[in-house]
Amino acid sequence: MEYIRVLLVESNPTDSDALQEMLAASRGVECHIERIATLAQCLARLDAQAFDVLLLDLDLPDGRGLNALTKVQVRAPSAPIVVLLGEDDFELSVRAIRTGAQDSLVKAHLDGRQLLRALRHAIARRAGGHRPVSAAELVQHDGREGRPAWLAMGGIVYDVTGSRMWKNGVHARKHAAGTDLGDALAAAPHGEEVLARFPVVGELVPQRTNAQRLVALIERLHLHPISVHFPQACSILAAIFATLFAAGGDRSLDETSWHLLLAAFVATPAAIATGLFDWRVTYRANRTPVFVAKIALSSVLALLVAACFAWRLLDPDVLAARTPASWAYLALLLALVPAAVGLGHLGGRIVFPE
Ligand code: HEM
Ligand code: HEM
Repeated sequence: MEYIRVLLVESNPTDSDALQEMLAASRGVECHIERIATLAQCLARLDAQAFDVLLLDLDLPDGRGLNALTKVQVRAPSAPIVVLLGEDDFELSVRAIRTGAQDSLVKAHLDGRQLLRALRHAIARRAGGHRPVSAAELVQHDGREGRPAWLAMGGIVYDVTGSRMWKNGVHARKHAAGTDLGDALAAAPHGEEVLARFPVVGELVPQRTNAQRLVALIERLHLHPISVHFPQACSILAAIFATLFAAGGDRSLDETSWHLLLAAFVATPAAIATGLFDWRVTYRANRTPVFVAKIALSSVLALLVAACFAWRLLDPDVLAARTPASWAYLALLLALVPAAVGLGHLGGRIVFPE
């Protein structure tokens, strides 16, 4: 039987009991669980002993969020870590995975099968992982005419050739080997634990459509972090140069401000577009307060930039005239500064949620 040593770092005793019970009830795998309640104890235990996998709550009394995760990673760089979240915090979950956690689970929505699967996959992935198995390769292992019988479940490919229950690649009269059995297990009289005794062949490579490949490519280009600095720099500098001109500077300062405004007018929609793309793709258009604020504030920035641009375009002497309209124009330009800085701050809160 498979044996897994789990270090469970969870300060809430009720959650800790529930997790331990779930793991104790899993069939086909024996979990030895050591429970501790603080980050300090966790670091001390990692110095003393190696574990197969860590279940780390990200809300510990002496360590929270990605800070806690990073500290654990520094202490045990090779340990697979599955983080536990109190609530469905999608941003934190994405960040934790990017920081190197193998998986993230929401405690409230957890069941034993999902938990065990996450632990086993975390261990396998960390161990250098499963080799990729393509859909075409899976189909060829259908158990017929003496061929091996493989099946995919939850993205993992198992070899069930040795099972009497999968003779000729057919199981319970309707399930065929060589296929992805996805959600079929929900209707079975047993759970995923029946698979525990079979060797894992590898990880099924998800089939991607051309559109998905294109999205992945665009995502890898990191267009938003690249494009955001142009509207920020151009609009803030446009306001600064206009102020210098208004304070008695040379006319060339006004010209510079105008050209910067032109650049901001072009760059702002581009930055908003890349932001919306990133939000939809990476954050699945999750409407958290930070994103709602970003969308609102970037609309304000776009409107302000467009208004300043149109004003200066229609009246090139608006600032030089030094009439009340000049001060109104300058005030509008200066309003770009808090909008651009605020957007940068909100962006920083997404990238560094601590
Ligand atoms: C309605 C559908 C299904 C029925 C009626 C069914 C029935 C059974 C029964 C009666 C057993 C033996 C008892 C046990 O080990 O608990 C079994 C074992 C097993 N089943 Fe299913 N099953 C179904 C679907 C599935 C699916 C979708 C999978 C794919 C993951 C699967 C994989 C297995 C495996 C790997 C075993 C263990 C075989 C062994 O130990 O040799 N079953 N199934
Ligand atoms: C002109 C308007 C905008 C500016 C100046 C801006 C600025 C920023 C900045 C400075 C960052 C941090 C980048 C980094 O350090 O990697 C950021 C990140 C981000 N922003 Fe924006 N943003 C704007 C509009 C938007 C909009 C409309 C959305 C859509 C909701 C959005 C979504 C995001 C996302 C998803 C990230 C995280 C990127 C990542 O995970 O790599 N942004 N933004």
